[in-house]
Amino acid sequence: MMCFSWHYYQFPSLLFFFVICSLSTLPSPFTSARQICSPIEGDALLQFKQFFTINSSASDCQTSYPKTDSWKENTDCCSWEGVSCSSLTGHVIGLDLSCSQLYGNFPSNASIFLLKHLNMLNLAYNDFKHSKISPEFGQFTNLTHLDLSYSGFSGQVPSEISHLSKLVSLNLSSLSVWKTGHSELELKTSALERLVQNFSEITELSLYSVNMSSIDHSILTNLSSSLRNLQLAGCGLRGTIPDSFFRRPNLRRVELQLNSKLTVHLPKSNWTSSLEHLILYSTHHSGQMPDSIGELKSLETLEVTGWKLNGPIPTWIGNLSRINSLSLPYNHLTGPIPSFFANLTQLSNLDLSYNMLNGTLPSWVFNLPSLEYLELGDNRLTGHINEFQSKSLISLSLRNNMFQGQIPNTIFELVNLTSLDLSSNNFSGIVELDKLSKLKSLAWLYLSNNSLSLITDKIFNNTLPNLQWLGLSFCNLTDFPNFLRSSNDLAALDLSNNRIRGPIPEWMWSVGKDSLYNLILSHNLLSGSIQFPWQNLQVLDLQYNQFEGLLPIPPIGTIFFSISRNKFMGNFSSMFCNLNSLEILDLSYNNLTGKIPSCLFNFSKSLSVLDLRSNHFDGTIPTTFRNGCALNMLNFHGNQFQGLIPRSMANCRNLEVLDIGNNNIKDTFPHWLDSLPELQVVILRSNKFHGFLNESQGNAKQPFSKLRVLDLSSNGFVGFLPTWYLENLKAVENVNRSKSAPQYMQAEGTRGSYDYSVNLNIKGNLLEMEKVLTIFTSIDFSDNKFEGVIPGVIGRLSSLKGLNLSHNNLNGHIPGSIGNLTELEWLDLSSNNLVGEIPGEFRDLTSLAVLNLSNNQLVGPIPGGKQFNTFENSSYGGNSGLCGFPLSKLCHEIEEQNRPPPASSEPILEFGWKVVLMGYGCGLILGAIGGCLVFQTRKPKWVVNLVDGKWGYQKAERRLRRED
Ligand SMILES: *[C@@H]1O[C@H](CO)[C@@H](O)[C@H](O)[C@H]1NC(C)=O
Ligand SMILES: *[C@@H]1O[C@H](CO)[C@@H](O)[C@H](O)[C@H]1NC(C)=O
Ligand SMILES: *[C@@H]1O[C@H](CO)[C@@H](O)[C@H](O)[C@H]1NC(C)=O
Ligand SMILES: *[C@@H]1O[C@H](CO)[C@@H](O)[C@H](O)[C@H]1NC(C)=O
Repeated sequence: MMCFSWHYYQFPSLLFFFVICSLSTLPSPFTSARQICSPIEGDALLQFKQFFTINSSASDCQTSYPKTDSWKENTDCCSWEGVSCSSLTGHVIGLDLSCSQLYGNFPSNASIFLLKHLNMLNLAYNDFKHSKISPEFGQFTNLTHLDLSYSGFSGQVPSEISHLSKLVSLNLSSLSVWKTGHSELELKTSALERLVQNFSEITELSLYSVNMSSIDHSILTNLSSSLRNLQLAGCGLRGTIPDSFFRRPNLRRVELQLNSKLTVHLPKSNWTSSLEHLILYSTHHSGQMPDSIGELKSLETLEVTGWKLNGPIPTWIGNLSRINSLSLPYNHLTGPIPSFFANLTQLSNLDLSYNMLNGTLPSWVFNLPSLEYLELGDNRLTGHINEFQSKSLISLSLRNNMFQGQIPNTIFELVNLTSLDLSSNNFSGIVELDKLSKLKSLAWLYLSNNSLSLITDKIFNNTLPNLQWLGLSFCNLTDFPNFLRSSNDLAALDLSNNRIRGPIPEWMWSVGKDSLYNLILSHNLLSGSIQFPWQNLQVLDLQYNQFEGLLPIPPIGTIFFSISRNKFMGNFSSMFCNLNSLEILDLSYNNLTGKIPSCLFNFSKSLSVLDLRSNHFDGTIPTTFRNGCALNMLNFHGNQFQGLIPRSMANCRNLEVLDIGNNNIKDTFPHWLDSLPELQVVILRSNKFHGFLNESQGNAKQPFSKLRVLDLSSNGFVGFLPTWYLENLKAVENVNRSKSAPQYMQAEGTRGSYDYSVNLNIKGNLLEMEKVLTIFTSIDFSDNKFEGVIPGVIGRLSSLKGLNLSHNNLNGHIPGSIGNLTELEWLDLSSNNLVGEIPGEFRDLTSLAVLNLSNNQLVGPIPGGKQFNTFENSSYGGNSGLCGFPLSKLCHEIEEQNRPPPASSEPILEFGWKVVLMGYGCGLILGAIGGCLVFQTRKPKWVVNLVDGKWGYQKAERRLRRED
């Protein structure tokens, strides 16, 4: 029989512990041999029992059992499990049905409301199926302890709760914010106000996940001075907690974490010395963390994020001799991990991730017997990992550092490990997966992005039955790990960038059938056809494999779907239009045929990226782009689409990239695109576009205000170059290059971000850019029938990288203003009818790497100067009137004397950006909400939040378990 059945952290009070124990086994002032249950109360209890069925999954407890099974008619109810009676009056004064597997609606007039004498009521950890908390709870006027936590109550907390003026402890907590993203229970100001006024005895107030966003925060500071424990995590609190709050005389525990709109002021002096637990992560804060925390000799828990702690780890931490949990992620801590931690012998949880710590792992890490959770990810730590002497670790994360050498064997002896993350380091050597067989509790394993070679396991007898998250990207795997066969709860699997060959093994189709939501197998040699038995799949990435067969239809909840670069064939089924959550759909580089379904632009408010590049789709583009179309990128490049560009595409107000190149579109220039405010890249090359670029048809005041890349090449456009558009390309006039790290165009989705990719003519080569730098700019009007002069306004586009006007009928002089385009890296004006001299201003084109002026009627001397020494004859051929270096035709004698040395082999200026060639490897970043990135590869192409709210939930749950 359980003695103290409230198994989560609850009552440090010894008195109460004793009371609870007395309920069942121990003698106490409340029990006596003579107590006999009053028949009315016994009946009320039996009647209450009738309302519920017993369902073991209703109680999310480590141990739960149906206490009401012992409740039988014609027996003394005071002897029933969970029931306790007063020795003086015989009345039922305590009812503890926590973890009792009760399942069903909680009636608002339940018969237990007849138990007027109750002092203690505990209904925690059952499932009352979103029942409202009945106002009748306010009738228990003598109640001192009320616990309705984790029992699925929902709705507003009735203000009648405030009638319980003797309450010492109130617990209405749930994990609903972590589980579902929203609170099930809500507490309004009026109810709380009364509660604060009436609860003069309150010492414990636990309202995890209760929505209190409408609360005036000042109420909280008026809570009774007897308050010891305040747990208000994830309550949507706003406002300010003043420093005086932390001087309240009896305070032991303050949990205000996950209230991002709450500002917390910590006192510089005179803290309540009794404070034991201070948990403030994901709250707003002001000022520095005061050193005076070091005076809190009783402190056991200190968890804060992003308090702008900088410099070395503060030495006052060494004074916290009782510290058990220390969490300081997202600061700017630098230098080594100090040795004083070795003296903190109670330390069980240490989280220093997301700082800038350097140096090696200190020796205490390997032998501190109390240490259970060690999070040092995302720092700059180096060196080898020693053998572990202590086996106490439950969770170890060293991800994203610079550790090297072999993974020590003793890691595989840490039998308590539930989470091991060594990803994104420089670990090397061979790891036999059979070594994992002792880690029976492992739920989370990440070894991705090292230089490891994993050898597939041979033994597969229930190796990792609890595994949920597995990341083995870039691990030189040749097979699916056999241990997955027993991982029935698998939630996320990343085996990308390995050498796994052949079909997905048969047994894999039944792994994680109901649990798998992320499956990432990209960049392998997988083949065969594919099916989707995983009904909860949200992310599916199969890019760069050799899968074949008909295009598979993913499960209904899919958010990210990429089968790019496989060998799928057949039609694009209209079944895709049922996938309402779809955000990213990438079918590029397959052998798909037929028309695309006309429902495609109509079904989804969320579709952000559609990439159909390099297939064999034909027919017209459907005209059904819906109002509120959310597309950011649309890529049809390299198909056989015909007809017109549908005007309804203008409904896609957020469109950033449009690539229709290499199709058979027969249309005039889509002027109506010029009013799309976000449009940055338009590629219409190699189609049958025709007619004038008569800008007067456009209606935007600021046409193409964000356009940076415009490729109209190889079409049949005629008439003058579009001066009005060229004048207005503001984005090419002043690209902001101040950002140090390169930025790429991306779509941000609920499961990560996705890099846009387009095919562009760069320096005369058609290349695929797997990522598009936000500073990349180019204009390509080549191979049309444009005529007239090159307008001088082109010189305003000072950020232009590439300009190609070749193969047209342009005439007149080359405007000297082109010399203003100092960022220009390639310039092609060849095969026109340009006359006159090459402007001397061209000497200013100091970034120019490729120049082609051939096949015009240019005359006179070729400008001299640094860049011009690097161009060869071919830049100028077919202009019989040009003279000077590098041509053999000299202009006059002086030229000959000043002739520069032959073109040197010194490298021409490197491009300021990087073209990513086809076949380039890609990976992913895995992350969690709340900004807790988990790990990243070296070359992300798209980025997935592998871990969603579930991780936050796990952490919250882990805390509760730890505090059992
Ligand atoms: C509540 O407690 C008081 C004081 O102990 C007692 O007199 C009263 O009878 C109790 N009320 C009930 C309903 O048990
Ligand atoms: C802190 O306590 C000292 C000594 O009791 C007192 O003099 C001082 O005013 C207090 N400071 C604050 C800010 O309350
Ligand atoms: C560690 O970082 C500190 C401060 O940023 C720096 O002074 C020190 O040289 C670094 N040490 C190593 C070993 O890199
Ligand atoms: C650890 O504690 C011992 C004994 O109190 C002390 O001598 C030693 O200096 C401490 N070490 C550190 C690094 O603070």
